[in-house]
Amino acid sequence: MQNLWYKNAIVYSLDVETFMDSNADGVGDFQGLTQRLDHLAAMGITCLWLLPFYPSPNRDNGYDVMDYYNVDPRLGTLGDFVEFMHQARERGMRVLIDLVINHTSDQHPWFQESRSNPQSRYRNYYVWSTNPREDDPNLIAFPTVEDSLWDYDEQAGAYYLHHFYKHQPDLNIANSLVREEICKIMGFWLELGVSGFRIDAASFVIEGIGIPGANQENLQIFFDEMRGFLASRQGDAVLLAEANVSAEEISTYFGQGNRMHLLFNFLLNQYMFLALARQAAEPLRYGLRTLPEIPSQCQWLNFVRHHDELTLDRLSDSERQEIFDAFAPEENMQIYGRGIRRRLPPMLKGDRRHIELTYSLMFSLPGTPLLRYGDEIGMGDNLRLEGRTSVRTPMQWSDEPNGGFSDAPPDQLTRPVISEGEYSYKQVNVAQEQRDPAALINWIERIVRIRKQCPEFGYGTLHILETDDPCVFAHCCEWSDRAVIAVHNSADRDCTVTLNSTDYEHLFDLFGDRPYEALNDNKAIPLSPYGYRWFRVNQTH
Ligand code: GLC
Repeated sequence: MQNLWYKNAIVYSLDVETFMDSNADGVGDFQGLTQRLDHLAAMGITCLWLLPFYPSPNRDNGYDVMDYYNVDPRLGTLGDFVEFMHQARERGMRVLIDLVINHTSDQHPWFQESRSNPQSRYRNYYVWSTNPREDDPNLIAFPTVEDSLWDYDEQAGAYYLHHFYKHQPDLNIANSLVREEICKIMGFWLELGVSGFRIDAASFVIEGIGIPGANQENLQIFFDEMRGFLASRQGDAVLLAEANVSAEEISTYFGQGNRMHLLFNFLLNQYMFLALARQAAEPLRYGLRTLPEIPSQCQWLNFVRHHDELTLDRLSDSERQEIFDAFAPEENMQIYGRGIRRRLPPMLKGDRRHIELTYSLMFSLPGTPLLRYGDEIGMGDNLRLEGRTSVRTPMQWSDEPNGGFSDAPPDQLTRPVISEGEYSYKQVNVAQEQRDPAALINWIERIVRIRKQCPEFGYGTLHILETDDPCVFAHCCEWSDRAVIAVHNSADRDCTVTLNSTDYEHLFDLFGDRPYEALNDNKAIPLSPYGYRWFRVNQTH
């Protein structure tokens, strides 16, 4: 019997730095996170994804690593990490960590050695050129911030490659010594108990642009090597790739089931937002039809928002504009000409029905669901903060000073807590919502509980169901002689929808936006405005 834990997991991502500060220095830390594990366990989370916590100059939220074998001293020690791992395991939670291997910080000793000593073994850890090719502007990751893929280094007397910020020189993945280092890093953290890695910027890792003589096939084979190494050390550990790529490129990441276990579902995410903006089902149907079949042991990681911008670069200009018009009409809400730097609740004007509809969709689409810290309480954003920081404010635990995140004076906080307006910690916080049975946190707990009882969504085969209402998206997931159906009304009006399918006799209500009367006639399904219902098929209990 197949038992692939990641197919029915509930993943929660957080940044240790902004989650909970235990020592009043204004920075979240591992001891603080450990104290809050019961909050996550009570919500039913089964797997944590930690954003980078390595020593770092922190000029890209920790995605600029200085030492892969340690914990940023501001966040704690390796000892604190091991204690945290122990406590997470006690609560049945697995831990994935970010592995940033496309680049290091320019402060990493490898780069310091590489730039200053041409004879050093570290010289070819990076990509140097005295005469770099002209840039393709489409390849620059932060187009409004950087203007080239190459930067001249006085000390080295040459240009180095960087797809991201210029303080993040790209590692040379064509170099077998670099590959060995990366496996060694994985081996280290596996020994400390992690269940796998999020491979940051995976598409850039294997692209090979700018690496002289790089052979793409050879670069892609690196994923097979990583997988082989991982399997040899820990059979149930997984690789999760961050790769926002076209449908045709997806097979490069999954291979024949011998590369990445999981891939962020960027394509479906963008079509989901188009469906929400249009209040129509078609974009979702289109998005799902566009996705290729994936090997049975592989999986999609579905999400609403993560720590970066909501990127809309896979859509046409006019589709992207529709989403901007609906959810981010002001320029300050947009970023890099391709995305939105807001959290979901303010995008949806705080409409609880619309927020539930969105999460209900995400939790029921084929794949594994990902929540992000603060989603459970409906946290907002702070558009006065620069760039992506708008959605990276500290967790709001209570209505105490600093939202209960830290006892430090507010001006010492790593980032300000949201303290004004309807998303202020005074209104939106864990303690307050836990006292209120109707609050979002209790709804999230409920959807997690029901989702865990529906492995069909995680393991099953998808059938998109035709309906007679263009606003209603209906789908069925079948697995191991059982099936669930979910029906979502993307419009702000009542409707009764007919499913054009005769394959089932009885639909049993599992979950919905309100208690509905049991169906007499399986064909006519009433739905409230932005209503949603999940059913189990052909069962009476
Ligand atoms: C990924 C991360 C992002 C970071 C970039 C460079 O896209 O999600 O936050 O800036 O990689 O490491």
